[in-house]
Amino acid sequence: MNMTKKLLVAIALGTSLVLSGTAAMAAGKQKKAEDISFSFEGVFGHFDRAQLQRGFLVYKQVCSACHSLNQMSYRNLSQPGGPELSAEEVKAVAAEYTVMDGPDSEGEMFERPALPADKFASPFPNREAAMAANGGAYPADLSLITKKREGFHYPWYVSPFIKLVKGNGGPEYVRAVLMGYQDPPAEAAQDAPEGRYYNPYFVAGPWISMAPPLSEDIVEYADGTKASVEQMATDVSAFLTWAGEPKMEQRKSMGFQVVLYLVILSILLFLTKKRVWGREPH
Ligand code: HEC
Repeated sequence: MNMTKKLLVAIALGTSLVLSGTAAMAAGKQKKAEDISFSFEGVFGHFDRAQLQRGFLVYKQVCSACHSLNQMSYRNLSQPGGPELSAEEVKAVAAEYTVMDGPDSEGEMFERPALPADKFASPFPNREAAMAANGGAYPADLSLITKKREGFHYPWYVSPFIKLVKGNGGPEYVRAVLMGYQDPPAEAAQDAPEGRYYNPYFVAGPWISMAPPLSEDIVEYADGTKASVEQMATDVSAFLTWAGEPKMEQRKSMGFQVVLYLVILSILLFLTKKRVWGREPH
């Protein structure tokens, strides 16, 4: 075998090893999230206001007991493209929380009710306190959870196209974790770790330290929607997607305008070229 052939064989072997490796990972323990067609997916996607409002309620009444959302300020809730609460509603939500402010003229820190410009209050003062309250596991900040975690695992050469249409599966991942609690299979049940629950959708699973946070009718939706576990899981996943990218709608419409502009420009340039060069003898 000459050098080039050896190299080619080595490359082929290497590639197949890597590919089979990723395939094995995908087929491993973590279960694939079910695909949901959310309103905000695709090139023209828009958030569903009512769904964001319901999702915020679930975050506020359930998740915020453990998970912070520290990229968000209360006033973001009234901005266009989000749940679009009224200014009064935002004030009322903020006033339910207290924040540390100061120092005052005496140099003392003091507590005061939160204002719309404040960041969402965190449930714990620091990481250590959060872990101590959760049996040593850290309830992650949820600001970017739908960007950090992908629910779908496709081969790299199709993945960018699928993402354009269906998103990265981040909201599907969150939804799947919230709905994915199961009885452990018999062989896993014997070595069930203390204080952990079986959830094969969790990225570091199948055991998770978060007790199932949702149960039927744990919140009461103002719009009369039935608060089933599936409904709440879907709504809060949509809300967290918005929280991870509050300007998604603007980005998508801007992207569309740019593409439209480029198409029109190309047509004009093409016509100009024809006009200028059309009369030249070939
Ligand atoms: C009682 C506290 C508590 C509540 C309430 C709670 N969680 Fe959790 N959550 C945790 C802890 C602790 C972990 C880390 C689990 C682990 O590492 O095993 C976690 C993990 C998660 C994960 C996986 C994170 C990752 O890194 O992939 C998601 C997603 C999540 N929670 C979402 C939610 C949502 C959404 C709600 C509200 C519906 C919620 N949680 C309510 C404590 C809580």
